Amino acid sequence: MFKKVAFLITLVSLISCTNSLSKQEKKDYLQKGKEIAKASFKELSNHLMSQMQMGGPAQAVPFCNVQAIPVTESLSNKYNVTIKRTSDKVRNPKNTPTKREQEVISTYKALKAKGEKLTPIVEIDAANKKHFYAPIIVNKKCLSCHGTKGEELSVKTDSLIKTMYPKDLAVDYKIGDVRGAWSITFN
Ligand code: HEC
Repeated sequence: MFKKVAFLITLVSLISCTNSLSKQEKKDYLQKGKEIAKASFKELSNHLMSQMQMGGPAQAVPFCNVQAIPVTESLSNKYNVTIKRTSDKVRNPKNTPTKREQEVISTYKALKAKGEKLTPIVEIDAANKKHFYAPIIVNKKCLSCHGTKGEELSVKTDSLIKTMYPKDLAVDYKIGDVRGAWSITFN
């Protein structure tokens, strides 16, 4: 009897331990995730802003079209992770969210609507992969390409975007909106 109980306890603890992170691990992944998301944001905005200065949206949009994914891919290699920028309203269908990413974005939007603080999330999935998620918020600089057509988003830029992204959903944003999320998967 005792043996059986001991066996059961071991079994249960083994199962429950497989998919959880210790406090320290959570802290470490949070730290790493924040650092990587910050570096990626910086890298993308530096490129974007220099293209905008050189030739406005007419130059920056094609640049994003060709370079946004390669830039995140090269950072993914550098940090040995997979970096993704995703949204519930994507411009590039390659950035379409997974089921979990969609849930995370919905959670962030709900928190935002209640006026609550949005913080990064660290978790482990059924396959033991560690994930980091953080919100991407719209600021003034984003509106020339993600704002409202005929207002901050010129008709000209909008038509340029639509020729490259016929299924574009990423418009009509306001400052402070949840644009999407960083999704970083640790290898
Ligand atoms: C010069 C125009 C331009 C500006 C300014 C701009 N974006 Fe974008 N954005 C794009 C384009 C083009 C894409 C599609 C990139 C691709 O093909 O991967 C995109 C894609 C994204 C994506 C990936 C998800 C998706 O919809 O495909 C996010 C997230 C995003 N932008 C957020 C922002 C934020 C936040 C800002 C402001 C800090 C911003 N963008 C400013 C043009 C722009």
